[in-house]
Amino acid sequence: MTAIATGAGAFRLEEIPPRRYAHVSGGRPEQALEGRVDESAKTPVRPALGLASISLAFGGVAALREIDLEVAQGEILAVIGPNGAGKSSLLNIVSGIYRLDRGEVRFGENSFREVPTSKLAGLGVARTFQNLALFKGLSVFDNVPMGLAHRVRAGFLQQIVGSLLGRRIEAENRAAAEEVIGFLHLTEVRDRLTGTLPYGLQKRVELARALVARPKLLLLDEPFAGVTLTEKRELSQHVRNARDSFGAAIVLIEHDIGVVMGLSDRVAVLDYGRKIADGTPDQVRADAAVIDAYLGVAHEDDKELI
Ligand SMILES: Nc1ncnc2c1ncn2[C@@H]1O[C@H](COP(=O)(O)OP(=O)(O)OP(=O)(O)O)[C@@H](O)[C@H]1O
Ligand SMILES: [Mg+2]
Repeated sequence: MTAIATGAGAFRLEEIPPRRYAHVSGGRPEQALEGRVDESAKTPVRPALGLASISLAFGGVAALREIDLEVAQGEILAVIGPNGAGKSSLLNIVSGIYRLDRGEVRFGENSFREVPTSKLAGLGVARTFQNLALFKGLSVFDNVPMGLAHRVRAGFLQQIVGSLLGRRIEAENRAAAEEVIGFLHLTEVRDRLTGTLPYGLQKRVELARALVARPKLLLLDEPFAGVTLTEKRELSQHVRNARDSFGAAIVLIEHDIGVVMGLSDRVAVLDYGRKIADGTPDQVRADAAVIDAYLGVAHEDDKELI
C-alpha cells in the first residue's frame, strides 16, 4: 500500500475507494452536466473545468473555433484528433500559456478570460507537456517537488517565522515526492539527472511532478507518447488511480486509441479546431464523422489495443 503524505493529509493510491464522483453517462455531456445534482449531497455539481465558446487564431490559422467543453469532478476526458487539430492549444489556453481570442475558462466557481498561470497551482491545476518541461540538469528527486513549489510563499509572516516553517514545508514536499517516486516506480532512478533518462522515463517523471500536487484538475498532453506498451498499461492505471483516489478531473490528450477507449469516461474529438464529437467511448467510436476525420486513419499499431 502506498500512501502519499502531504500537508493536506494522506491519500492512498493503490487502494481504490468506492467512487464518490458523479459521472456523465451517455447523451450530450453539456446537457448531462447542466444543473446536475449530487444525490448524496443534494447540491449542484460544478464542473471542474468549463470552456465556453473558446476561439483562438494564429495569424490566419484558426487553431480553435468556438469550443464548448465541460469536465466533471472525477471524470477522465480524452481529447483526440489528428495532428494540428488544436488539442495542445486547448490545454495551453486552459493553463494560461496561450491567450484566448474569445470565450471563457471556468475552474469550478472561478471564471477567466485570461487564465493566470501563476495562480494555477493554487487553483489545483497541474499539467504535463507534449514536449516535456523538466529541469534536465536536476535529479528526478529534485524535479518532482517542483510540482509543490507554490506552497512556499515569501509572505511577511513567513519571513518572521522564517526558516522553521520553510523547513517544515520543504520536508513535507520531499516526503510527498518520495512517495510519488515510489508509486511510479522511479526509485531506481531517483538520483539520476533527468536529462540522462530514456524518454519514456522522463514522461513518467513529468507525471510524478504533476501528481505530487494532488491536483483537482490534471491536464495531460500525450503522457504515454514514446513509452512501451507495458508501460502504457501501467501508467494508465496510475492515471485512473489518481482520479479514483482523490477525485481529480483529468483531461488526457492521447493518440493511442486503445488507451483512450480503455481509460476515458468520455471522449471529445477535435478536427481543424472544431469539436466534432463528444460522448462516451462507444458513442465516439461509432460516430461516422470521427471515423472519417480520425479513427479511419488510426495508427496500425493501435489495433492490437482496441
Ligand atoms: N505557437 C503557435 N504559433 C503558431 N501557430 C501555432 C502555435 N501553436 C499551435 N499553432 C497552430 O495551431 C494549430 C493547432 O496546433 P496544436 O499544436 O494545438 O495541434 P495538436 O492537435 O496538439 O497537434 P499534435 O497532435 O500534432 O500535437 C496548428 O495549425 C498549429 O500549427
Ligand atoms: Mg499537440
